[in-house]
Amino acid sequence: MNVLVIGSGGREHALAWKLKQSSLVDRVFVAPGNAGTAEDAENVPIPETDFAQLIKFVKENGVDLTVVGPEALLAAGIVDAFRKEKLRIFGPNREAAQLESSKVFCKQLLRSGNVPTAEFQVFSDPESARRYLVDREDVPIVVKADGLAAGKGVIVCKNREEALEAVERIAVRKVFGAAGNRLVIEEMLHGEEASVLAITDGKTIVTLQPAQDHKPAYDGDTGPNTGGMGAYSPAPVVTDEMLHWIEANVLVPTVHAMKKNGCPFQGVLYAGLMITPLGPRVLEYNVRFGDPECQPLMMRLKSDLAAILDAAVDGRLDRIESLEWDPRPAVCVVVASEGYPGEYKKGFPIHGLEEAAKIPDVKVFHAGTTIRDGQVVTSGGRVLGVTALGDNIARAKYQAYAAVKCISWPGKWCRKDIADKAINRLTQSGANRNS
Ligand SMILES: Nc1ncnc2c1ncn2[C@@H]1O[C@H](COP(=O)(O)OP(=O)(O)O)[C@@H](O)[C@H]1O
Ligand SMILES: [Mg+2]
Repeated sequence: MNVLVIGSGGREHALAWKLKQSSLVDRVFVAPGNAGTAEDAENVPIPETDFAQLIKFVKENGVDLTVVGPEALLAAGIVDAFRKEKLRIFGPNREAAQLESSKVFCKQLLRSGNVPTAEFQVFSDPESARRYLVDREDVPIVVKADGLAAGKGVIVCKNREEALEAVERIAVRKVFGAAGNRLVIEEMLHGEEASVLAITDGKTIVTLQPAQDHKPAYDGDTGPNTGGMGAYSPAPVVTDEMLHWIEANVLVPTVHAMKKNGCPFQGVLYAGLMITPLGPRVLEYNVRFGDPECQPLMMRLKSDLAAILDAAVDGRLDRIESLEWDPRPAVCVVVASEGYPGEYKKGFPIHGLEEAAKIPDVKVFHAGTTIRDGQVVTSGGRVLGVTALGDNIARAKYQAYAAVKCISWPGKWCRKDIADKAINRLTQSGANRNS
């Protein structure tokens, strides 16, 4: 079959690279893609937001399956648009995508499915939110804008004063626009964060290995928030036993609740979790693969991704064999442009990609790259996702950074501590003693 991947980041490169390895797949197209997907697949110069052109391309080129990367397209109804044309597409429809695009929808769904999450209240006007904050104890609390706000709509507040300021910003000054028409105010949770993703057809779920990402820009989880500076899988904070618990008590009840509420969920169900002393709690759901979590997951997945996604689209995931994973951990280090996540320059030629590719068990996934005059140049803030497998996580980290070292362009930088949290945890628990 022919497959179309929509998007242009590291996640989409990893998906295209993995799909291309399937014996079921003939051609893999990526719209619009980047310099890396041009090499591993075929780029199609259609903007990801142009649904009509994408649909036309799919019909004219015998694409049997379309896979959507970015959440904004799902929230904008790309799946509905394709289904209307009887085209096979992997991802939730617009209604189901509210699990990510509306924090209020998500929290109410979690409550209705009895899924463990922080205690919360929903407000649709700033005055009642203020009154609530003033009336309750002055403790740390989290204020969330309801809608998509490019990862900035959640404000973790140390005290009442900060919470009142957050309400002001979101609901009065409307710094995130209509995303702030409603608010969620919720209890602050403590612990380590982890991501557990599952693929579901709306009835059956296939849980993937746990992963962990690094959102803050600088080492030691400091600095401004980014799209993600690195990721690794597995996440040792999620034990096998806990993964089963999460499947049974988080993922399964969520899929059931979606179905019961009349909006069955097909696609990637990505649980952002806080592993608290009382057990895992859902912080949020995303409705697509994470970027960069997707990169280490695809490095480790041995099963045929095309077969899994194809089955999910047809509602026959129950007939898929259990997934096979490379037992070795994978680490992805995001290499960024100078200035990211603020302003940055583009168009620098990238050197050393071939040397990096020669390092064993390394794959350099491209994100913000393009081809200019036959040369790979930077074209985004997050430029590459250098991903490596290793016999243990420290080894995977070492390999990834060895590959990063080969690559250069003016202003190139990355975090130096990707996966250290996992390495420290394993060192402390002694599990890494012999490796
Ligand atoms: N209840 C909470 N307690 C503590 N931290 C939280 C809570 N909710 C969110 N956070 C922090 O804020 C980050 C962003 O929140 P999240 O709900 O994932 O929103 P988004 O990814 O859409 O910005 C989380 O990764 C977590 O670090
Ligand atoms: Mg999040």
